[in-house]
Amino acid sequence: MNFTSVQDVQDVAALVREAIDLKKDPLAFRNLGRDKTLGLVFMNPSLRTRLSTQKAASNLGMNVMAVNADRDNWAIEFQDGAVMNGTTVEHIRDAAPVLGSYCDIMGIRCFPGLVSRDTDYSEHIMKQFIKWTGRPCLSLESATLHPLQSLADCITIAEKRPVHRPKVVLAWAPHVKALPQAVANSFAEWMCRMDVDFAITHPPGYELDSKYTGDATIEYNQEKALEGADFVYVKNWSSYYEYGRILSQDPSRMLTEKLLAGAPDARVMHCLPVRRNVEISDEIADGPRSLIQAQAENRVYAAQAVLKRILLEK
Ligand code: CP
Repeated sequence: MNFTSVQDVQDVAALVREAIDLKKDPLAFRNLGRDKTLGLVFMNPSLRTRLSTQKAASNLGMNVMAVNADRDNWAIEFQDGAVMNGTTVEHIRDAAPVLGSYCDIMGIRCFPGLVSRDTDYSEHIMKQFIKWTGRPCLSLESATLHPLQSLADCITIAEKRPVHRPKVVLAWAPHVKALPQAVANSFAEWMCRMDVDFAITHPPGYELDSKYTGDATIEYNQEKALEGADFVYVKNWSSYYEYGRILSQDPSRMLTEKLLAGAPDARVMHCLPVRRNVEISDEIADGPRSLIQAQAENRVYAAQAVLKRILLEK
């Protein structure tokens, strides 16, 4: 079993329940992963994903080895047939089987280049790790998706929802850098599998691939979209159609208390790291609406539920 998208999960609600059960008794399966090794490869920086996945594996009794492939390792070549007389030092065909021989399960973080949409959306880096390690692989955020984050978000919504079918709004916010669409794509595809009323608000030009947004309501008017929301998920992403470009930095889309006038009970979510007073105001981040620390805590149980399933399948 690989875990790279919601497509790898048959029953999302059951997986969420399993994670919530693990949260109540994190060491209940402390021997399940004994003598098994989880290898984590980070091609990009991480705080939460790295440490929560390590903690999850440790709760299951696994050994963990993590490398910062962007800094610690030889530069990897991913192009088949490459004449390697440039900056890359070893081919993925050589490096990945080595990792596979040391580890039972692999986790990979590989962000997009945001230059070629076709290249990024082909997920060629993740696919090559899956192919050449020969081990079950979990995405620690790929070019297009961040499923462990989305599972943690689903757990958080399930724990905090005030009504059976809450209104959830994914709200684009400004940022200083061009960011991937991965968190937004992933959140959208998981929300489409949850029992929620799901809407997305962003400036024109920031439409996501409809493959992920499905039947979600797209509402450009932010105040209208936020009206009556139970959960507001704040996130920046760069344009999908004008690939990787920043089309707007409209500061009025930063989430503030004023913008939530029509949603008095809304809880606010963000995957972190967050640019305070650019994406979300301090009053929101530090206030009673904020669920951002709960989401980060739930990253452990999301990873633990997925690792548990992979271990039981092996
Ligand atoms: N949310 C998230 O993935 O955080 P990190 O980039 O710190 O892992």
